[in-house]
Amino acid sequence: MKLNKKALVLGGSLLFAMGSSSVFATTILKLSHNQTRTHPVHKAMMYMAQAAQNYSHGDLVIRIYPDAQLGTQRESLELLQNGAIAMAKSNASELEAFAPAYGVFNLPYIFKDRAHYYRVMQGSVGEGILKSSEAQGFIGLTYYDAGARSFYAKKAIRTPADLMGLKVRVQPSQSAIAMVKALGGNPTPLAYGELYTALQQGVVDAAENNITALTLNRHGEVAKFSSLDEHTMVPDVLVISTKVWNSLSADNQSALKKACDESMLKMKKLWAETEKVERLKAEKMGVTFITVDKAPFVKAVQPMIKKLTENNPKLAKIVEEINRLR
Ligand code: GCU
Repeated sequence: MKLNKKALVLGGSLLFAMGSSSVFATTILKLSHNQTRTHPVHKAMMYMAQAAQNYSHGDLVIRIYPDAQLGTQRESLELLQNGAIAMAKSNASELEAFAPAYGVFNLPYIFKDRAHYYRVMQGSVGEGILKSSEAQGFIGLTYYDAGARSFYAKKAIRTPADLMGLKVRVQPSQSAIAMVKALGGNPTPLAYGELYTALQQGVVDAAENNITALTLNRHGEVAKFSSLDEHTMVPDVLVISTKVWNSLSADNQSALKKACDESMLKMKKLWAETEKVERLKAEKMGVTFITVDKAPFVKAVQPMIKKLTENNPKLAKIVEEINRLR
């Protein structure tokens, strides 16, 4: 059937009049994130956008803006809270400042392995954390695997003593800050987009992230040693504005949630492939990977974990639930 070209823009929705009788509405949702188009999380979200469009029979159209075009992760969250955009891909470290429950993902060595990590994200604990930010103006839709985070620097870090006095870039998360302090480093919060230059110019000496930071974000050009201490597993998180979510019909909410759940599994596969490919690329860039004895790192962070959980009974309860899933 031919569409009548009369399209009315109504608060982000396009109403198309089909002939004179039926009307269908297309809701355009802008999604901001700070990774490249080549990053697996971008690919997983492209998949999600297509699936959401299919499952909603064309009602939901998600436009993805990568590369921090619309702002840093923090700015994107603020844009979302102000109603300028509908969705954002952030990560659990960044979100801790908005919704404290995300802090559990920033506690070092909380997960036994990848299977434990997935049991938490896919079960009621993970769902509870996604919902915890509703009053802050956004709701989590799904998690995306972002591997394990390890330190990388211009010099080899083999023990916590090697971090002594180093300026270590962290995300704006109080747990990440406390962790680096506990290990002897000087935590320096910076937006991700500023990190390449900060490492290059010596504003910071080290950073911590997953393998894609070295290759897709080219940090391996300016930091040649990656120490595989794997201190945290901090997932990326796809969020939607509470207001926008509440404005969707129940059918479209289910369509979107289904697309998000599927894209999480898509990302699980993509991530496993990415880690292998990017590791080889990093080695070709001249990055040396160092296998470290994790025991001294695990030991050094225990007092900090104890302090954070003692001061926050809600966090302590989630930690207990996570430990039960080990
Ligand atoms: C990960 C994550 C990004 C985040 C970055 C950071 O790479 O995928 O969303 O910005 O860590 O350390 O800031």
